[in-house]
Amino acid sequence: MKAAYFMEHGGPQVLRYGDLPDPVAKAGEVLIDVHAASVNGADWKVRAGESATLTAFPHIPGRDFSGVISALGAGVSEFKAGDAVFGVCDQGIEGAYAEKIAVRAAIVAKKPESLTHLECAALALISLTAISSIEDCLQLKSGETILIQGGAGGVAGFAIQLAKHIGARVITTASAANHEYLRSLGADQIIDYNAQDFTQTVSLCDAVFDSIGGDVALRSFAVLRPGGRAAFIASGPQPLVPPRADLIALRPDARRNRPHLERMLALVKAGAVRVPEITVYALAQAAAAHAVSEGRHLRGKLVFKVR
Ligand SMILES: NC(=O)c1ccc[n+]([C@@H]2O[C@H](COP(=O)([O-])OP(=O)(O)OC[C@H]3O[C@@H](n4cnc5c(N)ncnc54)[C@H](OP(=O)(O)O)[C@@H]3O)[C@@H](O)[C@H]2O)c1
Repeated sequence: MKAAYFMEHGGPQVLRYGDLPDPVAKAGEVLIDVHAASVNGADWKVRAGESATLTAFPHIPGRDFSGVISALGAGVSEFKAGDAVFGVCDQGIEGAYAEKIAVRAAIVAKKPESLTHLECAALALISLTAISSIEDCLQLKSGETILIQGGAGGVAGFAIQLAKHIGARVITTASAANHEYLRSLGADQIIDYNAQDFTQTVSLCDAVFDSIGGDVALRSFAVLRPGGRAAFIASGPQPLVPPRADLIALRPDARRNRPHLERMLALVKAGAVRVPEITVYALAQAAAAHAVSEGRHLRGKLVFKVR
């Protein structure tokens, strides 16, 4: 099969495009002909060796995919060859930047006809992360106010729409060029972080969802009311200790399972959440896609059209 992969950690240029052996579906797995796979912020960190040092190469990056089942491993009876499915690899497993991937059947969901493979791949991991963060972890409620840091990004864009659907008031941060886009997602108040200090503009929030990390994450505690809670998904000082004893810092665990994928499908079907803006790349252009992702100013999602 063709795949985008790397043989050593480094910059985007270490990504190669070429032939690697086909994977095989083990017991409990399905083999999927990948039609689309998306780029996530974590992908370039793994490639650069920032999040972990890999010892086995070649390494195929990529966590979410959409495609068609071509073979079943032993014991799989809930799917048949030809079923269109999508999902996210188990924690610690990658390999979606390829024409084929073998995945545990229990964690994939059927792709609805109303969404394309590109759309399902774009939505998979960002939706699991946003749903796990906003609903499971922060348990955001109607009438609450939330500050969502980095609104124009993939996860945050989904989180804005989910928070509005829940009935919360949403404040978000982005550069000025993205404000119209964020208004279209439903944000009530948008702060240009290049021109304004959010700690001087926002106060007494019930919750913060941070997708930026570093100093932005640390300063986010300042906007919370007593008893407020903050969830952090980007890298930053570990552990994130609140400066006041009355604040709660949380690290959401993105649930990579079928019920959360189906929750996302229900939200899309209900019109609560729409598909993010998608920029399409060929797998052979993986290095170019990573350079954009690493630049930290992309809007929406980068998706590989694999076949
Ligand atoms: N993708 C996932 O499912 C997932 C899962 C778990 C964790 N994470 C982590 O979450 C983080 C975000 O990932 P992502 O893929 O959602 O985002 P992304 O698409 O990489 O987000 C980039 C966005 O960040 C904005 N931005 C950059 N600096 C900012 C600042 N100082 N203040 C406010 N906004 C700023 C940019 O908007 P402007 O152009 O307007 O600046 C840009 O739209 C990454 O660290 C990633 O590793 C992602």
